Amino acid sequence: MPVSQAREIAPAARLENVRYAIRDLACVADEVARQGHKILPLNIGDPLNFDFQTPAHMIEAVYQAMQDGKNGYSSSSGIPPALEAIRGEAARKGITNIQDVFVTSGVSETVDICLTALLNPGDNLLTPCPDYPLYSAVLAKIEIGLNTYYLNEEDGWQPDLDDIKKKITPRTRGIVLINPNNPTGSVCTRKMLEQIAELARRHNLIIFTDEIYDKLIIDDTPHVAMAAVAPDVPVITFGGLSKNYLAPGWRIGWGIASGEASVIKPYLEGVNKLLRARLCANHPEQYAIKPALEGPQDHLVEVKRKLRSRRDLTMKWCCETSRVSCVAPRGAFYAYPRIDIPEGDDVFVTELIRQKYVTVVHGSGFGQRPGTKHFRIVFLPDEKTLTAAYAAIGDFMRKRYS
Ligand SMILES: Cc1ncc(COP(=O)(O)O)c(C=O)c1O
Repeated sequence: MPVSQAREIAPAARLENVRYAIRDLACVADEVARQGHKILPLNIGDPLNFDFQTPAHMIEAVYQAMQDGKNGYSSSSGIPPALEAIRGEAARKGITNIQDVFVTSGVSETVDICLTALLNPGDNLLTPCPDYPLYSAVLAKIEIGLNTYYLNEEDGWQPDLDDIKKKITPRTRGIVLINPNNPTGSVCTRKMLEQIAELARRHNLIIFTDEIYDKLIIDDTPHVAMAAVAPDVPVITFGGLSKNYLAPGWRIGWGIASGEASVIKPYLEGVNKLLRARLCANHPEQYAIKPALEGPQDHLVEVKRKLRSRRDLTMKWCCETSRVSCVAPRGAFYAYPRIDIPEGDDVFVTELIRQKYVTVVHGSGFGQRPGTKHFRIVFLPDEKTLTAAYAAIGDFMRKRYS
């Protein structure tokens, strides 16, 4: 007689704190789509959902790798031509003192491995607020409490240096920088990078700098790599193919470790232990790294042209719409407008999906200063779709709040 289990299988309690608002909202959107409505998706940062395509020569390289039988495991750090190309790219960005390079299944895995390899119970890591929610999700998974520092909206969303100074404790091990930033689209100034590096030196911190959008700078000001301004400081620079090279589904990311060898080497042994434990990153896709970084970069001209036009359209709408204000994004493809409304921004976005079928993400899903409300727009869709979405949001706000 088979015995049926009486007690439910509960998830681990630590998952209580794992939140990923961007995908969680998709459940509401799915419900609305099931009712037959066409959703205008301004919530997920996947260029391939819109009029962007992975460069053909990268696809060819992966296809060829598969044909050539590169379908087994690779070495845990990644294939040599990819590692060499990433080192070359780092050098072009002025990064010196490189101690290690490794390829992962997306920056998501780099983040998971780098944070897990660093933190002991009771330690803390400074993360930006607002932030890309992966960081808080990984910290929740490894049971590390949050220690967030604010980005300053009044200062174009630059990190709030005084807040960082206040939040450093004897157990602070490092600081995360997202530059260009998701969700604000801000880009750090060189002066800001130098000041953060100085704090890292003084407090013995490692810097994790997520530069996954570094080639998507919309205006002409060049992106400055954190590691380039602080060759002596332990820095892991995160990069990958998902955004700059329009291949998010391939799951290819990497880490570049730089700084004084004697300081960073023991930590890198821990990172490599975890890299070996998960075997390797996706193997054939690694063959696209060298052609991506060293081959034609023509796609970037077209991508940036589209992003500039869509950013400008977004800012025009923000400026013309009452109750909305926005710091102009300078990189990536996100805008983070502030909204002056009498209810929570989570209610705002849920009702917006239900009534107007437009999906954006609430500021409370990324974090924000108490008393402020925001929502994040992904301005990847074409101008026609964006215009329709902004007309719908405007109409929704007029009816609901005037
Ligand atoms: C700041 C930031 N880091 C990392 C990621 C994840 O990158 P990947 O696709 O390489 O895992 C994203 C994705 O949106 C992101 O915005």
